[in-house]
Amino acid sequence: MAYTVILPAAGSGKRMGAEHNKLFIELKNIPVLIHTLRVFERDPQCAHIVLAVKKDEQSYIEQLLLQYSIQKVAAITEGGAERQHSVYAGLKASPSKEVVLVHDAARPFIHQDVIHRLVQAAEKFGAAVAAVRAKDTMKKVQNGIIQETVERESLWIIQTPQAFQYNILEKAERMAELESFLGTDEAMLVERQGEKVHIVESTYDNVKVTTQEDLLFGEVILNKRKQEEQ
Ligand code: CTP
Ligand code: MG
Repeated sequence: MAYTVILPAAGSGKRMGAEHNKLFIELKNIPVLIHTLRVFERDPQCAHIVLAVKKDEQSYIEQLLLQYSIQKVAAITEGGAERQHSVYAGLKASPSKEVVLVHDAARPFIHQDVIHRLVQAAEKFGAAVAAVRAKDTMKKVQNGIIQETVERESLWIIQTPQAFQYNILEKAERMAELESFLGTDEAMLVERQGEKVHIVESTYDNVKVTTQEDLLFGEVILNKRKQEEQ
């Protein structure tokens, strides 16, 4: 099943505390952004990649695409102040109107089989997101005092990719903009349109490179994968 992936890459990486966009930080001598792009470059089901970037980083990113022979990028568009704006800009630039996947450019370790299960679920049901079960005990807290223990069985930690039939995501983004609603993921926008969003079980190693220690986790994940290849 062919799909288009939208990669929001226009953040600033504040929590990483780096001088520039955290996506340019290298893991095993390759920028995080390129690790993520390679997943989709190598996936035969991925037809197009759309990137949302900061205006002043576009030419550097174009240079990286050339350097690492990334060829599926069909459009590079300007991202916005919030992640949601970047995703919407990417969606508007999407060349295909079938299944679209939204994936954080900062999640370079996503497995291809999770992607394929998401695309299949979106084809069938309209909307599906990658998620893992909560491992820890979860409690609601107010002013430092526990209010209640939340029943863990029903709790999932939501990741990207999030996959949608194009029309469903387009309407959800358009309505959110119209109503000045800002969500923390695409599923939230789709949920408020009354659509059912399905869960596809993902893996705990699909980490979002966010803080310094994630770079250490990243090195370990890449080492493990290299060993498995041998
Ligand atoms: N992103 C984006 N446009 C924004 C903000 C974020 O395209 N206005 C992208 C980031 O580049 C990243 C993904 O959305 O690939 C997930 O965001 P996050 O991990 O929060 O990255 P940053 O916003 O860069 O980091 P921070 O929140 O620490 O500043
Ligand atoms: Mg952010």
